[in-house]
Amino acid sequence: MQKTVVLGVTGCVAIYKACEVLRGLQKAGVRVKVVMTKNATEFIQPAMFRALMREPVAVGLFDDAPGDPIHHISLAKEADLFLVAPCTANVMAKLAHGIADDLLTTTALATTAPIAIAPAMNVNMYDHVATQENMQTLKARGVRFIDAGEGYLACGDVGRGRLAEPDDIVAAAIEMLEVTHDLAGKHVLVTAGPTVEPIDPARYISNRSSGKTGFAIARAALNRGAKVTLVTGPVALGDVEGADMARVTTALQMRDAVDAAFDDADIAVFSAAVCDARPSNPSKRKLKKGADDEALMHIELTENPDILATMAGRKRPEQVVVGFAAETENVVANARAKLERKHADMIVGNLVGEGRGFATDENEVVFVYADRERRLPLMNKDDLAHAILDEALEKLE
Ligand code: C5P
Repeated sequence: MQKTVVLGVTGCVAIYKACEVLRGLQKAGVRVKVVMTKNATEFIQPAMFRALMREPVAVGLFDDAPGDPIHHISLAKEADLFLVAPCTANVMAKLAHGIADDLLTTTALATTAPIAIAPAMNVNMYDHVATQENMQTLKARGVRFIDAGEGYLACGDVGRGRLAEPDDIVAAAIEMLEVTHDLAGKHVLVTAGPTVEPIDPARYISNRSSGKTGFAIARAALNRGAKVTLVTGPVALGDVEGADMARVTTALQMRDAVDAAFDDADIAVFSAAVCDARPSNPSKRKLKKGADDEALMHIELTENPDILATMAGRKRPEQVVVGFAAETENVVANARAKLERKHADMIVGNLVGEGRGFATDENEVVFVYADRERRLPLMNKDDLAHAILDEALEKLE
């Protein structure tokens, strides 16, 4: 059946690229229905899109749509994908907060189709903490971002905020339309984020893991129809809607939460950066400089359990276990040693340090097996999540 993309077009200079997105989707055999904000019509007349689509363009909530009294609901239902390109900071903010005050935002709230956003705005608007928080909120909800590029912006500034290229937007949309429920009936367990090991009520040992990779894997697995358990250490990311969330603090708590879910899981992906050790005797009161110098300067540590090794050590043959190895050198050799030591089926090796890996949105990794390895190009964490699940699924079958 022909797929339908509802293309939301908002008011900014990059709007001319929306015409190319529309044409690209049509060339790929996709039916496109355009919904414009009022501001968008200040840049381009609806007649332009109407001519390209040969269908009416929707703008106002109360416009007459022939034979269709509740236009936002019918549009929402028709969509196999709701794509907002270009998306202004304002519309992104509305979508993040569930504001529905025009046809575009009302349709976005009413649709159950996947949503993709291609942002376009001035670099300072893009970098503003409000916009960044809105993006995180939407990402945590499963909205896919087709990231803005860097370059010269219409306002003369240079930086992030340029609308992604139409070809890339079309490719991402096509990919989303083709997502199959190939993980339906499967249970995917994911660990994510750092663990935090208290020294006293104020101090702790931890690491720089952001949890982004694990959360992306959980989202991708959900999109592919899996039941998902996400066990995460403390991170600044919102719940993944639809996942069974277990928020923990320490490695011991993470071990217990994973232990409870592991036997039922078909695929287990251990992306958490678990602290290797914890203070042996965390103090119940804050240690004081001076009086407690001895305890503060010589923190005794106890090794944490290796959660991956413990679980994979008892895995059934039909379970697939994926581990991670963040290395600053000799990635493949170190990953392969870990594969063996921890009884994993595959290790995702990645180079960290010098701005790579942690807390970024992109990653360059190598899949390491006992007898071979596969290098992947630099990709965003959403695409990497799907690549990992593809690989795990192949093992499962
Ligand atoms: O030994 P290393 O920490 O580099 O191993 C990384 C892999 O092992 C990751 O998949 C990580 O989630 C897992 N791991 C674990 N429990 C630990 C240490 C690491 O599950 N205590």
